[in-house]
Amino acid sequence: MLDPEQLLYVYELKGGVPPPFLNLEGLLGVWPEADYTYLFFTNPAEATLQSFFRQHPEYSLTRRYQLPYKQWQQLTVQEPLVIDRFKIITSKKSIKLSVGEILLWIDPGVIFGSGLHPTTRGCLRALSLLYSETTPFKVLDLGTGTGILAIAAAKLGAGQVDAVDLNPMAISTAAANCERNGVKDVVRLIRGDARDQLPEAELLCVNIHFDFLEGFLRNSAICRYRWAIVGGFLKEKLPEVRVLLPPCTKIKVPVLQEKGWVTMLLEIQKEKV
Ligand SMILES: C[S@@+](CC[C@H](N)C(=O)[O-])C[C@H]1O[C@@H](n2cnc3c(N)ncnc32)[C@H](O)[C@@H]1O
Repeated sequence: MLDPEQLLYVYELKGGVPPPFLNLEGLLGVWPEADYTYLFFTNPAEATLQSFFRQHPEYSLTRRYQLPYKQWQQLTVQEPLVIDRFKIITSKKSIKLSVGEILLWIDPGVIFGSGLHPTTRGCLRALSLLYSETTPFKVLDLGTGTGILAIAAAKLGAGQVDAVDLNPMAISTAAANCERNGVKDVVRLIRGDARDQLPEAELLCVNIHFDFLEGFLRNSAICRYRWAIVGGFLKEKLPEVRVLLPPCTKIKVPVLQEKGWVTMLLEIQKEKV
């Protein structure tokens, strides 16, 4: 894991995703987001970027940020972080586990999915709840980030997990986390847009922002699965989400909420598809 005090230098570029051959000095990673791309460096990179812009005038610098890594990942809690039956650590250490507890070793780097955010926590709680009743073998994790939900599913007993993310940096971070947790043979990482990547599975986990969910729920793609864990939206959006849920879905347990963020565990009723 990065040193919590390590300063991150983040540059926002307009002009789409820079070419894959981008090989700038001190570059930690590249994070594409709609029309913008964020470049993460461990050192100030103005000079490096100036020469990059001279060669690629189609890109321009729109904003820059500087913040310690601990602020980026909100690293304020003592380890292990405990969520339901999961104990989460960010670096290798020996942790005492009681019967039924599961260790997740997740180094988030600069990627979403450390376990601190209420949406991740809600999805982990929903996973734990579902696996206490049944053991879905095939799982699809859309918007995998650090891979935390995919890894949790694998450790709960899933035998085959497909994990999709748009961000190449998320995929490399998730790959390292799968390796750390001994589940790299179970989790298949797919770099791509979740709108085009819908492999068959029994359980679907999707923790992506509301704009994505809206389109996803509207086209009833969710009816292909047996169960679904849906997170990533605020409680103000819950009435809208309820309307968007296709008739095949039934809310399995009361909606989980933490700090205004909502997670739903859904059962799909095949006769209503
Ligand atoms: C809120 S994070 C969730 C990370 C992790 N699953 C968790 O629960 O903590 C959402 C992730 O979805 C990815 N994402 C956003 N839009 C996407 C899309 N259209 N297709 C695939 N991944 C997407 C982002 O890159 C980000 O890693």
